[in-house]
Amino acid sequence: MTSHDLTSGPVDRRTVVAGVGITAAALTLTAACSSNDSSTTAVASAAPPPGAPAGQLARTADVPVGGGVIVGDTVVTQPTAGKFEGFSSTCTHAGCKVNKVVNGLIECPCHGSRFRLDGTVAQGPAPRPLDPHPVKVQGGAIVKA
Ligand code: FES
Repeated sequence: MTSHDLTSGPVDRRTVVAGVGITAAALTLTAACSSNDSSTTAVASAAPPPGAPAGQLARTADVPVGGGVIVGDTVVTQPTAGKFEGFSSTCTHAGCKVNKVVNGLIECPCHGSRFRLDGTVAQGPAPRPLDPHPVKVQGGAIVKA
């Protein structure tokens, strides 16, 4: 028997079943944690849905007032109703990607920098605002300007 032969005995099969159970539990915990934060904005897919305008980053309805979404290399925010802004998702501290928008702040997971919905620094160590990624509204879509 080799260490890679999973069908050779009952001990190996139990190990595999236990491993699957742990993986399923971990996935359940991950899903539970992410669903509890109602103010967190989902990270949208970079691929636009079929029929969407070329260059669509998000639909206006997907961007909450007082929040934002992260689409690939762009953060799209809506600081006030009907006003959409776009920024690079690259943190100006050391280049990590910001990964969520919570309670009106864009957060970087690496060293704790936070940016306001207008891209300015709310909390360092980031030394300057997020770089602009201009966007515009085209129908119900937000596209790169
Ligand atoms: S890279 Fe974002 S806080 Fe350091």
